[in-house]
Amino acid sequence: MVKTKKVKRILLDLHRWALLVVCAGMNVYTFAQDQVIPMETASNALVLKIDQKKDVSIIYYGKKLANRNEYDLIPQAYKQLGDGDYTQVLNAAYSSSGSRGLMEPAVSVTHADGNNSLDLRYTSHDQQQISPGVTQYRVLLKDPVYNFEVSLYYKVFAAQDVIEQWSVIKHNEKGNVVLNKFASANLYLKADGFWLNQYHGDWAKEMQPEESKLTHGIKTLDTKLGTRANLFQPSVFMVSLGKPASEDEGTVLYGALEYSGNFRTDLELDFQNNLRIISGINNYASPYTLKPAEEFVTPAFLYVLSHQGKGYASRQLHDWARSYKLLDGQGDRLTLLNNWEATYFDFNESKLKELLKDTKKLGVDLFLLDDGWFANKYPRNGDTAGLGDWQENKTKLPNGISTLVKEAGNNGVKFGIWVEPEMVNPKSELYEKHPDWVVKQPARAEHYFRNQLVLDLANPQVQDFVFGVIDNLFTKNPDLAYIKWDCNAVIFNAHSAYLKNQSHFFIEYMRGLYTVLKKIRAKYPTVPMMLCSGGGGRVDYAALQYFTEYWPSDNTDPLERIFIQWEYSYFYPAVAGANHVTDWGKQPIKYRTDVAMMGKLGFDIVVSHLNEKDLLYCQNAIKDYQSFKQIVWKGDLYRLASPRESAVASLSYVSKDRSSAVMFNYLVNSRYGQGSSYPVKLKGLEAASTYRLSEISLYPGVNSLIDSQKVYSGQFLMEIGFNPLVNSGRTSVVLKVEKVK
Ligand code: GLA
Repeated sequence: MVKTKKVKRILLDLHRWALLVVCAGMNVYTFAQDQVIPMETASNALVLKIDQKKDVSIIYYGKKLANRNEYDLIPQAYKQLGDGDYTQVLNAAYSSSGSRGLMEPAVSVTHADGNNSLDLRYTSHDQQQISPGVTQYRVLLKDPVYNFEVSLYYKVFAAQDVIEQWSVIKHNEKGNVVLNKFASANLYLKADGFWLNQYHGDWAKEMQPEESKLTHGIKTLDTKLGTRANLFQPSVFMVSLGKPASEDEGTVLYGALEYSGNFRTDLELDFQNNLRIISGINNYASPYTLKPAEEFVTPAFLYVLSHQGKGYASRQLHDWARSYKLLDGQGDRLTLLNNWEATYFDFNESKLKELLKDTKKLGVDLFLLDDGWFANKYPRNGDTAGLGDWQENKTKLPNGISTLVKEAGNNGVKFGIWVEPEMVNPKSELYEKHPDWVVKQPARAEHYFRNQLVLDLANPQVQDFVFGVIDNLFTKNPDLAYIKWDCNAVIFNAHSAYLKNQSHFFIEYMRGLYTVLKKIRAKYPTVPMMLCSGGGGRVDYAALQYFTEYWPSDNTDPLERIFIQWEYSYFYPAVAGANHVTDWGKQPIKYRTDVAMMGKLGFDIVVSHLNEKDLLYCQNAIKDYQSFKQIVWKGDLYRLASPRESAVASLSYVSKDRSSAVMFNYLVNSRYGQGSSYPVKLKGLEAASTYRLSEISLYPGVNSLIDSQKVYSGQFLMEIGFNPLVNSGRTSVVLKVEKVK
């Protein structure tokens, strides 16, 4: 039977009417008695509302209001309802599936009796002052039908405008419950359009940005790689609200999951044009069987909201990271000489002793011995064998590492070492002895990534082994001063010989990894460790709790590196980024060094091959670096001119007291006549103060074109700018900016 339009409309109206009656019966519209929970930071408020049905929803995330009573009025100002929110839970604080929710859920379960429905209602909430400026809120939600609960946690860092949000899922049903999806958090944002800035990449091509306007439906950012999880896509992203944010203008949310394994972030623009962001562990191949009374604690979803563009969001996040997350974020870092590109696997004790002398000669703090120092039955002379056999190779190092550590001390430098303890080459004694420790499918052909496989960290014996690799090194060499922890392979053929439930593998792997890292940090709390994953394959704020720095990319071509470091700089402070001067790229040593100085400086070159002037330049540049490194590490970063938008890229780091700054300028376009045609506007100075600019990191014999006798007001430098005089003859220019007293 064909329905006429009129009949259709009547049916629809009847339906709506029925809905209203049901809702009215539940007092949906009695706003007056609703309860509001505003979680405020210096600039913002994330506001939850508990209605009469005990639904907990997000009614606001935006600029803080002076009058807290007005938050409750916000929903009424929006008339997007149109034909109605049929679900009544579009803006749920933690969206569940199988009951009223029709959109992508944050949590989805199969109860002990096989039922798939979940409905989470408010039970209680509390708040706790963790430390000055840090408040933790907990909202307990329970299913009225099933003995199932979720606690939502919000750790609110007031001064930094940062919120960490996670969930703890628990039940007391009469059997196991399967969690089909178990996100950390969902947010719900309102704006006239949303622009997503996301990243993709591969080895040596980390952090390639892409920006697009979100359209209706779901955009998913995720990884299923297991270990080197960020290889193709990191979990960090930005969402601009209302219009694409620029460096200093616009409202922008930065998001990141604090997790080193498989993550998934869904951005769903719904039929009312609001954006739901759901982030958590990827549920791919991972339905989780939760026993009665067991707690499933999700990782934290981290976010910061800025109304002054991307620059402010970065500075807030950097402050937060240095104060609360990054290991030893307020501490110092060691400059170093690494031998990876200088020797690769081809070295022996006498060669290394020469490099130790070179470390001293160069003027850096530490020598870092890279891959190739271990394994005997299958010597590690290339990347095809030996991984897993962490005994010194007797041919290369007959007197062991301890001799080298001692020799480093004799030269007045420290000693660090490379390890990749989660991995194994099939050609190794470890593989022969413990095939059951290896992640592989029992009945399928092995498939390798860089000729290696991953050890099964879900297995406590493997956890002990991995801890032992580090512990033995320190026990034998108490003066060891630095660890580079690498992780080159992704997980193929995911299967654990240890676990009964293979669906838990990816999650248990990460739990195992964090157990090991926690144990290492309990015993060795401060020794610097670099987080490496064939480059930046594993950078995230969960891992950075245990590491002092990360290796952004194996790509050290300084031109490429300007772009890669630029993108990382949105999310991670310079003190966490390890940059090495190598022979990649065609740029002169000064350019390479200037780029590496925007973070934690290291070298990976053959010092003995440097000509006299290059060596002298490096020695002087390291001294210059010592004089300003604290500003780069602990100061405020201002991105001044983007390498994507201009021929000269400029960045500056300004001390917290605004009395000094370092400004880096690079020619990134080698076409004819390119250079700094226009002055570059500085930022973050005091308008009324006077500053002097002088050029540092000068190549021997080169006179600076910058007149350091002249002084300028902060206002001049920020309104008119300063020309660093970059051109094809001066491709990189570093300026020190100092307040004149
Ligand atoms: C990875 C790292 C490099 C180097 C090699 C050693 O690729 O990213 O820096 O340590 O492993 O094999």
